[in-house]
Amino acid sequence: MDLTNKTVFRYSISLRIITAFSILIIFFTVFILFVFNGLVKEAHIKVALDEMRDKTHFVENYLIAKYNTLDPDKKLLLEEIKQMAGITGLRVSFIAKDGKVIADSDVNTPQSMDNHKYRVEVMQAEKEGSGHSMRYSHTLETDMFYYAQNYDNYILRMAKPLPEMRASLIRIRQIMIYLGAIILLLSIIIVLFIVASITRPINETINFASQFASGDYTKRISNYSNSEIGMIQRSLNNMADQLVEKINSLVFEQNKLNITIESIADGITVINKEKKIVIVNKAFYKCIDVTRIKVSGLLFFEVIRNRTLNLRIEQSLAQAKPSHFEEELINGRTYDVSINPISEERTLQGVLVVLRDVTEKKKIEKIKTDLVSNMSHELKTPVTIIKGYLETIALNLNNTEQCSGYIRKAIENADRQTSIINDIIKLNMIETSNDFANEKIIIDDLIEGCVNILGQKAQLRDIQLNKKLEAMGEGVVGNKFLAEEIFFNLIDNAINYNLPGGEVNIESSISNNNQLTVKINDTGIGIPKESIDRIFERFYRVDKGRSRESGGTGLGLSIVKHAATLLGWKITVRSDSKGSSFRVIIYL
Ligand SMILES: Nc1ncnc2c1ncn2[C@@H]1O[C@H](COP(=O)(O)OP(=O)(O)O)[C@@H](O)[C@H]1O
Ligand SMILES: [Mg+2]
Repeated sequence: MDLTNKTVFRYSISLRIITAFSILIIFFTVFILFVFNGLVKEAHIKVALDEMRDKTHFVENYLIAKYNTLDPDKKLLLEEIKQMAGITGLRVSFIAKDGKVIADSDVNTPQSMDNHKYRVEVMQAEKEGSGHSMRYSHTLETDMFYYAQNYDNYILRMAKPLPEMRASLIRIRQIMIYLGAIILLLSIIIVLFIVASITRPINETINFASQFASGDYTKRISNYSNSEIGMIQRSLNNMADQLVEKINSLVFEQNKLNITIESIADGITVINKEKKIVIVNKAFYKCIDVTRIKVSGLLFFEVIRNRTLNLRIEQSLAQAKPSHFEEELINGRTYDVSINPISEERTLQGVLVVLRDVTEKKKIEKIKTDLVSNMSHELKTPVTIIKGYLETIALNLNNTEQCSGYIRKAIENADRQTSIINDIIKLNMIETSNDFANEKIIIDDLIEGCVNILGQKAQLRDIQLNKKLEAMGEGVVGNKFLAEEIFFNLIDNAINYNLPGGEVNIESSISNNNQLTVKINDTGIGIPKESIDRIFERFYRVDKGRSRESGGTGLGLSIVKHAATLLGWKITVRSDSKGSSFRVIIYL
């Protein structure tokens, strides 16, 4: 309800009550005044009549007492009558039964007066004993009130000018009008108060309702009216409380759902039957490579740019059938896609699309299959070679010199086989075992040990091993076996992939007080750029021949990587045509 409607409603309800009551009050006041006016007039006439009757009796008594005759002297009578008029304050007329005026207090020559036989009051008096009338007197030229009383031989008539009577009536009427006006005014004021007391709670209720409707859920009706409206107000307040409670629980549920959807790592979206995206989580944005725009409310094919996925969504929407497949999306990652129809009362409402990133899983699967084929190949090679030598030996048993050469080669390959098997076992152990004890390692001693073992090999290849180690004192906490594997393999590689006359420099330094860095630099052949990321893979070698020649198995750096992960250390590598540099970063 808007403001205009509200005003119209308020005006109309107050106005209607006020108008209705005002009309009623005015009507009743006028009616009462009218009735009162009649009653007052009647009472007034009655009082006047009584007064005249009394005064008539008085005059009659006086005249009879004085004259005791029915034919008194006319002149004398006139004098008496004038005196009576003076005493009573009325006009007195003495009329004979035949209607002739015998004497009149206001007229000196009654014989000049008209016959009064047919005057209304006279006729009425003759008939009923007394009579009265109000009319214009031509004699006195004014309105008069007449009263006539019939006696045995004459009729006595008294008269009073009407204006006199009217004046007192008008005064009474004025007082009545004033009183009426006051009553009217008071009544209207009372009505206004009553209307205000009725409309106030209504207005309060309307204000509350419109504020609530416009979203202010905190407002309530503070004072209940003690009328029926109070019950409505109480119910409205209760309704508002319940609504707020419902809204809060709905908002809570919605938030819970949003948080749940957002916290899921899989990309989730719900597309309605109008093909619009209605729910979408952050992970989904990543899958479809959209970061900025808000996609909910858009058509799904405006957002998802993968033909297969769009086609399958379209099919699921059309046939209400689930769909499950794997697909590489625009961000270059592979997803396990499942599209499930959402139905309500057997009618399709939309589809739920869940995208699970399986890129890593696929990679691991590939690594596993590659590993199996690599391993079998690596293990088969020395055996094949040994078999070849043994067959040659069998054919040349007489040639001892040649045979001893073949036997040496066969033994070399058997050793290589052993090395490969040893490295596989070692790598497997590092990968699967989790009981590598923590112990104190003195890094300098460890490197010293490796240098001692590998010194001879370096000397044979004319490679100089240099050490510049910072005294570590207390040492670090870790596993000795794992640490040894790391340094041995890195120094071994620095010798193996070096050039005659080259150098291997081993340096250590402490930085930031909590980081020990050991650098193993060589002046060797270096690693091609494209291979740097792959050298830690199992059996990966840049140059297989060279690796084999130096007794490598292709597993050394894999062992280094896993051992470092277990110890919480970090290995970095840099390489160019002048040589390679491996860093072992140890967090103290
Ligand atoms: N210091 C280095 N200089 C040049 N190439 C290296 C160096 N260290 C490792 N590589 C390359 O990385 C490959 C993998 O090393 P590794 O896992 O130790 O296996 P292996 O030494 O048994 O061949 C080596 O074959 C070699 O091509
Ligand atoms: Mg190696």
